[in-house]
Amino acid sequence: MEYHGTPEILDYRNANGHGWSFFKNDGLLLTIVTTPEANMEMIRKVQKLELRNDDVLIAAYPKCGTHWLWEIVTMLRAGNSKYNKKAKDISMLGTPKSVLVDELPSPRVLNSHLYFRHLPEKLVEKKIKTIFIMRNPKDVSVSFYNHLNGVKMSFRFDGTYSEFLDLFLEGKVPCGSYVHYVKDWLQVKQNHPDLPMLTLFYENLKKDPVKNIRMVADFIGVSVTDELCEQIAEACSFKKMRTADKELKEHILTAPENWKEGHKGIYRKGEVGDWKNWMTVAQNERFEDIIVGTFEDTGIVFTYD
Ligand code: A3P
Repeated sequence: MEYHGTPEILDYRNANGHGWSFFKNDGLLLTIVTTPEANMEMIRKVQKLELRNDDVLIAAYPKCGTHWLWEIVTMLRAGNSKYNKKAKDISMLGTPKSVLVDELPSPRVLNSHLYFRHLPEKLVEKKIKTIFIMRNPKDVSVSFYNHLNGVKMSFRFDGTYSEFLDLFLEGKVPCGSYVHYVKDWLQVKQNHPDLPMLTLFYENLKKDPVKNIRMVADFIGVSVTDELCEQIAEACSFKKMRTADKELKEHILTAPENWKEGHKGIYRKGEVGDWKNWMTVAQNERFEDIIVGTFEDTGIVFTYD
């Protein structure tokens, strides 16, 4: 897993200079945040992370509802519907701050956008309960664009949605191809039947939060009343979470000063089907061919509106 030699830098910026530099490792395209060596060192630390039997891990490609699910799981484990004062980035694996996770009290709700092969080696052996959440790829592309266009950090994207889409369709964006990421996790489920894994969809959580919250509670082994599931669904509604985020959260990565003036931050719109406001007919057709069609062999049926 360690990097030997100097990796080839793949510069996938477009003619306007918008995009990112990558390097390849273990078959994956990784974005260079600082240097490839520093990236690999960070991943190596995550792989060696000590896990605790009562950890829960949320795995998701960016923009699939990680913050939402993290708050829900955190509330379920606390047995109440009070917001955690910390934002979810405190327990995120795969950032320069990942080492802080060691200092968190149990029970921890870890979360990550990393591929399985870059996650802690003990995940399967310790049978860590893992929740994998997906979202329809069209909305993911819109949400991801707005995130990367809204941040001030070095990995921001200053181009248009159309420019971003070209790169997204080719998987040349941070965290790589959405299709590849999802298929990799489906493979994990097959290859590691001993890993307890619950699969959720953003759109289902939106449509029937109480039912999905109960599913999560059953999966993580927490006994809850219907009333608490309803209270958590209410506290974790989009509007309430957006207000809580502004008024009481302490952030590491997603603090207000890290977003451009006037940008809504993580809690942007929270809807299913916003892609219709962004994609042209031709772009949608390309998306159907390149991405939607690729999921046909997986049995996954995404909800697009
Ligand atoms: P939009 O950009 O479409 O609004 P992540 O947490 O993985 O970064 O995902 C962020 C996306 O989830 C954003 O999508 C955000 O608005 C949405 N989201 C966050 N909390 C939500 C909630 N309580 N209900 C619905 N959507 C939510």
